[in-house]
Amino acid sequence: MSLDIQDLFRRARVLPVVSIESVNDAVPLAKALLAGGLNAIEVTLRTTAGLACIEAIAAVVPDMAVGAGTVLSPADLRAVAAAGAQFALSPGATPELLVAARTSPIPFVPGVASASEVMAVLAAGLTTMKLFPAAILGGPAWLKALHGPLGQAMFCPTGGVSLDNAHAYLAEPNVLCVGGTWIAPSDLIAAGDWPAITARAAAAASALSA
Ligand code: 3PG
Repeated sequence: MSLDIQDLFRRARVLPVVSIESVNDAVPLAKALLAGGLNAIEVTLRTTAGLACIEAIAAVVPDMAVGAGTVLSPADLRAVAAAGAQFALSPGATPELLVAARTSPIPFVPGVASASEVMAVLAAGLTTMKLFPAAILGGPAWLKALHGPLGQAMFCPTGGVSLDNAHAYLAEPNVLCVGGTWIAPSDLIAAGDWPAITARAAAAASALSA
């Protein structure tokens, strides 16, 4: 596995989580985010176009580190890697996915929501996780509490993260980056409002840069 996912997340600071309905919107969206200063993206498999969008961004926008989200099965993990995703995230961590991660050509970032799940992921040999849904679970206080007993676990919290609260997450020593849909919400993508998305990306990049 050549990509250092912790390094990528640390440098990114903010990971826009996007759901794209039309493959035609994938490349303009990636370019709009890049223009705002963000160079990593999580394209979810929540839409039928998701996989093709990953493929398009990987092929046409090489400066964008494209990750796949909502990876729910080993088959999903294989498919997104074949499509050109550089990393993959899941809202959870099934035993099957943790086994598949061992032989995956790209880093897999499982989702966790409890100390036991963090321990299962660590036991599988992974130290980078998505905390989901972060705000409902307790937000930065959850991360602070887990840092003591499970300090080797590093997180990308998503779910309820916004420009207003992102700082509090990034201040925790076990947070690499934050993720969220607020930068490129589905209605702005569907409207093709690339200037608005660039403005949101620029606001996040300037407010949250290290
Ligand atoms: C995710 O998949 O990471 C979340 O759906 C993002 O949650 P948000 O819409 O609260 O940012």
